[in-house]
Amino acid sequence: MSNYDVKDLSQAEGGRRRMDWAEREMPVLRQIRERFKKEKPLKGLRVSACLHVTTETANLMVTLQDGGADIVLTASNPLSTQDDVAAALVNQFEIPTFAIKGEDKVTYFKHIRAALEHKPHMTMDDGADLVSSLFFIEMGRFDNLEPSLASWAKGLSDAERQELLAGVIGGTEETTTGVIRLKAMEADKILKFPVIAVNDALTKHLFDNRYGTGQSTIDGIIRATNVLLAGKNFVVAGYGWCGRGLASRARGMGAQVIVTEVDPMKALEAVMDGYQVMSMMDAMKIGDIFCTVTGDINVIDEGHFKVMKDGAIVANSGHFNVEINIPALEKMSKGEPKHVREFVHQYETKDGRKINILGEGRLINLASAEGHPASVMDMSFANQALSAEYMAKNADKLEKKVYSVPEDIDKEIARLKLEAMGVKIDTLTAEQVKYLSSWEEGT
Ligand SMILES: NC(=O)c1ccc[n+]([C@@H]2O[C@H](COP(=O)([O-])OP(=O)(O)OC[C@H]3O[C@@H](n4cnc5c(N)ncnc54)[C@H](O)[C@@H]3O)[C@@H](O)[C@H]2O)c1
Repeated sequence: MSNYDVKDLSQAEGGRRRMDWAEREMPVLRQIRERFKKEKPLKGLRVSACLHVTTETANLMVTLQDGGADIVLTASNPLSTQDDVAAALVNQFEIPTFAIKGEDKVTYFKHIRAALEHKPHMTMDDGADLVSSLFFIEMGRFDNLEPSLASWAKGLSDAERQELLAGVIGGTEETTTGVIRLKAMEADKILKFPVIAVNDALTKHLFDNRYGTGQSTIDGIIRATNVLLAGKNFVVAGYGWCGRGLASRARGMGAQVIVTEVDPMKALEAVMDGYQVMSMMDAMKIGDIFCTVTGDINVIDEGHFKVMKDGAIVANSGHFNVEINIPALEKMSKGEPKHVREFVHQYETKDGRKINILGEGRLINLASAEGHPASVMDMSFANQALSAEYMAKNADKLEKKVYSVPEDIDKEIARLKLEAMGVKIDTLTAEQVKYLSSWEEGT
């Protein structure tokens, strides 16, 4: 394969224009980029990034490149790539990019292979597919790999496989699901380098997961279906950061929102926030639109499909396409699903009900819409850029663990974002500092 694989380079101009549009909404990343141009904190570092290839990611890649990094970018999901942006990265910025919207599993992993062949010093993941592939290769667990990636890895000598891993000083991880996987790797003692959990920064999940996923998931469902939300029963599975955002935005559009949960605390919070909370089985009978956003598997399962209302619309915005048990629905259906609209597959069950699955069960905000708005990715990717810089400076002092983003980086991003928004806040007076740190003053 040449040093890129994108759909159509002639789309580069359009991709560049959309990148520039997004950049206007990314003032924090812009400031970091200006500093990186001067200081080159990533000079000489090979970075392999496995992220959703969107306008915002493109601006992050250019920032890292300006910081001196030698980058390869591959998609972190087969359906999330914006082909014009991938073309712009190759054509206008000479960043080797491997991503085609709608690519099959073989191509997806061929692209991951390209990211590994780059022999990264640093990994930047969204969902941990890159890092997990690297570890499976190093451990010789070829059965866990997609066959084409396995056959390439089997062709490497033991020394080459070890070398691939030994070169990595550290990584970063963007999303909740990736952080869960990495913490499991740490617990199993197979994590071989430090990773910074960008998702855990407050300036990431409080805003990106909540407001970004909230708005863009609604956008994705509407773009795919053009359905009116007002008056519909909208079921949100999972009341975590993403679920809270999604529920509040669906309510804002006039839907009656139902929440399903497994965590009593989150369920209680949803009740007190004014939503109906019930089991998924009960929600099945009344839900018009369902959206999973849990990071879990088979949240909508075979038993649920048996009672789901005729005409229901079912989407997922969690990281992997395992939250809806589509294989079970396939088995319950007559023949192949009808592709009734772009991003809508309609299954007809043997008892005659029609069930509409959006975006093949992949995260709908990236499949049928454009992912999170740039303004929120500004903070997420400021965390990525500053975490990469932190890793470059401190990797040798870190253990093979999952680390939080340092608090001072998180706070600085919040400060810069407020400044860019023109919002001024108060500072503690000397008297208040003293009061807040003393125990003597009471009633
Ligand atoms: N679409 C996007 O752009 C986007 C953005 C950020 C995160 N994500 C992904 O969304 C998912 C959720 O992320 P989050 O930050 O909200 O996580 P979170 O941990 O804050 O929340 C997940 C919630 O789901 C609940 N849950 C788990 N299993 C469930 C089940 N069977 N039924 C009902 N609820 C269940 C958990 O109790 C928890 O409250 C992850 O996969 C994450 O990677 C997607």
